[in-house]
Amino acid sequence: MPPSLTDDEFRLFSEWLADTYGLRFGPEKREILRARLDPRRAALNLPTFERLLFHLRFHPDRDQERLLVLSHLTNNESYFFRERKQLDVMREEVLPAIARQARQAGRRSVQILSAGSAGGEEAYTLAIIAREVLRGKGMEAAVTGVDLDTRALERAREGLYRDHAFRGVEPAVRERYFRTDAGAWRLDSSIREAARFQHGNLVDPQWSGSLPPQDVVFCRNVMIYFDKAGVRRAADNLYEVVRPGGFLFLGHAETLSRIPTRFVPVRRPGAVFYQRPKE
Ligand SMILES: C[S@@+](CC[C@H](N)C(=O)[O-])C[C@H]1O[C@@H](n2cnc3c(N)ncnc32)[C@H](O)[C@@H]1O
Repeated sequence: MPPSLTDDEFRLFSEWLADTYGLRFGPEKREILRARLDPRRAALNLPTFERLLFHLRFHPDRDQERLLVLSHLTNNESYFFRERKQLDVMREEVLPAIARQARQAGRRSVQILSAGSAGGEEAYTLAIIAREVLRGKGMEAAVTGVDLDTRALERAREGLYRDHAFRGVEPAVRERYFRTDAGAWRLDSSIREAARFQHGNLVDPQWSGSLPPQDVVFCRNVMIYFDKAGVRRAADNLYEVVRPGGFLFLGHAETLSRIPTRFVPVRRPGAVFYQRPKE
């Protein structure tokens, strides 16, 4: 019989997850948290969740164990060409504008980031759009995906997807960029090579250290799982990552309106996004 998650254990776990990763586990998610932590508690043969938390905080192997636990706690739901209106604004307005700025600055490539990239669907969608917009213009896009979940990053690097990942996509688009492979769809290597994936924690100021300034960041359906302090920390970190004059897209249910931020909202029909002012 697995142990219950006591009031104190629940409080300590939810505080630790919020402080370390920004993730909010409110009282309504208590049973989900218990069920998702229990396989690791059992695998480590620990009698209580308090011991599991101690292990995650102080054990010499804690980094490895944290990765395993996080794979159970994060939601990696994603699909290609999600939230079409935002992608239309990206294709028709934002990408041409940043390509122009880059060319004027003597750059031949634009930097695009999918922050919270899950299995790579968003990063590769952006790589496809950039390929179509920039083709023949002497410019290219370097796309980076960042995620906390190393299993999701592995899936992204593999570039193999089931039908479910294409629920927002016309078959003709899928057939242009994917080949069938043992009942799944394999992304064309030329698009796969335009994106790279790396591990990072968006609420930790260290995560972006190795990245060049980004022209556009998509961070969609990530902060919806954060507490208010987590949103603020992630938004501050993203501000540092976005080049002055560059852009940030959040998911349609997400906003920066409840936190202090220097990002300026830009409103278009069906899409709100943010700009870091040009300095
Ligand atoms: C629901 S998916 C969103 C995927 C994609 N952006 C989209 O909109 O389709 C959320 C992703 O955010 C990642 N994530 C959650 N907290 C994170 C953090 N603190 N740092 C980096 N990634 C995080 C999760 O691992 C998960 O893959």
